Amino acid sequence: MEKIVIEGGAPLKGAVRVSGAKNAALPVIAACFLAQGTHRLKNVPHLKDVQTIKTIMSGMGVGFSEENGVLSVDTAEVSGYFAPYGLVKTMRASILLLGPLLARLGRAKISLPGGCAIGARPINLHLRALAAMGVDMFLDRGYINATVDRLKGAKIFFDIPTVTGTENILMAAVRAEGTTILENAAKEPEIVDLADFLRAMGAHIEGDGTDTIVVEGVKELSPAPEHSIIPDRIEAGTLMIAAAITKGSVSIEGCRPEHLAAVIEKLHSAGATVREMQNGLVVQGQDPIISVDIETMPFPGFPTDLQAQFMALMCIAKGSSVIRETVFENRFIHVSELRRMGAEIRIRGNQALVVGKERLLPAPVMATDLRASASLVLAGLVAEGGRTEVNRIYHLDRGYEALEKKFQALGASIWREKI
Ligand code: EPZ
Repeated sequence: MEKIVIEGGAPLKGAVRVSGAKNAALPVIAACFLAQGTHRLKNVPHLKDVQTIKTIMSGMGVGFSEENGVLSVDTAEVSGYFAPYGLVKTMRASILLLGPLLARLGRAKISLPGGCAIGARPINLHLRALAAMGVDMFLDRGYINATVDRLKGAKIFFDIPTVTGTENILMAAVRAEGTTILENAAKEPEIVDLADFLRAMGAHIEGDGTDTIVVEGVKELSPAPEHSIIPDRIEAGTLMIAAAITKGSVSIEGCRPEHLAAVIEKLHSAGATVREMQNGLVVQGQDPIISVDIETMPFPGFPTDLQAQFMALMCIAKGSSVIRETVFENRFIHVSELRRMGAEIRIRGNQALVVGKERLLPAPVMATDLRASASLVLAGLVAEGGRTEVNRIYHLDRGYEALEKKFQALGASIWREKI
């Protein structure tokens, strides 16, 4: 086990490059099942979740190799279709294998992802859509057993614009017989990146990035030419908030401002200056930090994956702010840990009232989920007069590539220690 130790107080200064997006890399890697041969992917982040999907797919006969920053994925011989509970329970996004396996092999046996710290996170919308495409499924001892002769196009309406649900059905539809229409589809940039990859493989997709996506199924696809994963907008947003909370000046290179409009808007309102540059953004924190209300929404609204990080910023803002979490039902677990650092936060249902304080105090705290751990690191960066120790940082390593090294390079006193 490891912890991250921070001696807060230094304003961050300098330039940092954003890694490839975890939530784009996972569906793109899964999509490699859809065409036999070797796929070449660039800008794939080195994260625990990426390692997990590679381990699961390797168990199905997929070959992985990496050289000079290019990940080669060889799906010429796919022999298996089983995703074990032991691995799926560590990464719910394994459910993204369902659509591609059914398209490639006509069968899949995947552990039903269990609960998660931030919410129940059912996959009923994925399964209902696949059933509409002709898939037979039954649940047996926690595993989804799915079979289909050939997927057939269907008209799908998502009650909720589910991100991985949209991605799963998109991957099932590209080789289905006929046309599939996805209505009330999610519009996240990661879906557009997946659609770009699938089109490069020969898929016929229109409307990705809007709430209606139309797919004309084709019989065969072929490996795409080299595909580069989009930059991680959630890591970029985390770094932007780090610049604001430490009242520093940070150039965030490689990010795409068009993926971050809601975050830019809210940081402007909080008093930071955000300048769009040729290859990213420069964020200059200001004193005082102004309290701002946020409500998390599907893209292009304020991302739920930055709610915990923004809450850390509001903990030392001038005034009070209301943070409303509308996507997940239990995404305030970081609150009790922030309170241990002196934050004043009151929760009423899916709303948190954050009363800004002069400062946060260093303390040992416990990470509980991926984005909560990032929030505690940000709080530690401004907690002066001692050490903040963030425990259980395996949560952090699931979604951030060496985050403490990025903050070290920006002047923070932060390091990793073995426990
Ligand atoms: C994706 O999760 C992301 N993960 C999450 O990022 C992100 O928080 C989330 O989208 C929302 O943006 C990946 O892309 C790998 P959803 P996903 O299906 O697809 C409900 C991170 O920190 N729902 O869009 O699982 C669900 O319970 C992670 O990187 C159903 O009810 O989220 C939630 O309330 C955390 N039934 C809402 O929809 C379903 O079948 C949105 O979930 C599917 C979803």
